[in-house]
Amino acid sequence: YPITAPDDVSYCVPARVVKKNDPNPPDTSIRGVACCPPASATAPKPYLLPKFSKLRIRPAAHGVDPDSDYLAKYKAAIAAMKALPDDHPHSWKQQGKVHCAYCNGAYNQEMNGRPDLTLQVHGSSLFFPFHRWYLYFYERILGKLINDPTFALPYWNWDNPTGMMLPAMFEQPGTNGDPRKNPLFDPYRNVGHLPPAIIDLQYAAKERGFNCVDQISTNLSSMYGQMVTSATNTDAFFGTDPNPEIDSKAGTIESGCHTAVHIWVGNPRMPNSEDLGNFYSAGYDPVFYAHHSNVDRMWKIWKDLNPRRNKDPTSYDWLNASYVFYDENEELVRVYNKDCVDTRKMGYDYQRSSIPWVKSRP
Ligand code: C2O
Repeated sequence: YPITAPDDVSYCVPARVVKKNDPNPPDTSIRGVACCPPASATAPKPYLLPKFSKLRIRPAAHGVDPDSDYLAKYKAAIAAMKALPDDHPHSWKQQGKVHCAYCNGAYNQEMNGRPDLTLQVHGSSLFFPFHRWYLYFYERILGKLINDPTFALPYWNWDNPTGMMLPAMFEQPGTNGDPRKNPLFDPYRNVGHLPPAIIDLQYAAKERGFNCVDQISTNLSSMYGQMVTSATNTDAFFGTDPNPEIDSKAGTIESGCHTAVHIWVGNPRMPNSEDLGNFYSAGYDPVFYAHHSNVDRMWKIWKDLNPRRNKDPTSYDWLNASYVFYDENEELVRVYNKDCVDTRKMGYDYQRSSIPWVKSRP
């Protein structure tokens, strides 16, 4: 049966944080553990992709001019989101909690007759579609907050040498009282990995000490491996469908560069490598959404690399798996994997950036 978020969001239960080396019950004092969304008076409506007159084009973050209108708008939108009261479905806190609810066991599958299962969107073929929908609504909410129906999230172009550092827009904290205080800054990051550190797309919590030329070429060949050599079929790229009997398998990008970027950005001195280094807290760093835009872009690039062979999953369970989100009109809606396979139908696309790793066969 397809994995399904409950119609009644009050089925949501307090989530569990998996702590490093800790066999004890979850620490409920950790911020974000109560991950359930605000209650809705109505059941989720089936979502229809709305008509639009102009595509939203997501730009590469490293190419954004610091003095551009675009960056000013993006910061204004995030600041507006952060200014909303915590219980507002569009607030910073609620948007961040979405990740926690879908990853830390807040929704079990009781209504599907499987109380033994929880809804987990990682480690399986739900990874790409869930995160696509999550960003889709997040982007529309930001656009709504600044009254710009063409607003698009930036993507962190970590697969291109020019984008292999934390994008500058996220870096500077600004100071209290400073009107230029940066709403894109998050203090819970690894300070050793701020620019000019080059990202390691195979990072596993250990510095490998490459010089920058070697780090870049290692990154490019691991991209080639995850997008080409090891991603020769749908299951390999997307991961396998969730299955109560056998463990599902994560796709090449999810288990590869996606996870490495999370761990590389998160603060290793925090108890759970917050923010990006843990499921429950990842949605509290603005970088999360730029990171996942690029992950989402990989889905599109993979299909374009070989349209005859590289296809979306077609199983009944995959097509009909569904999630529940608050849309930009504060309406609770239900969305399905089958409706998110084409970004242009959803109203957005990516600014072009060259993909040098296609020539980086190791
Ligand atoms: Cu839901 Cu990058 O993880």
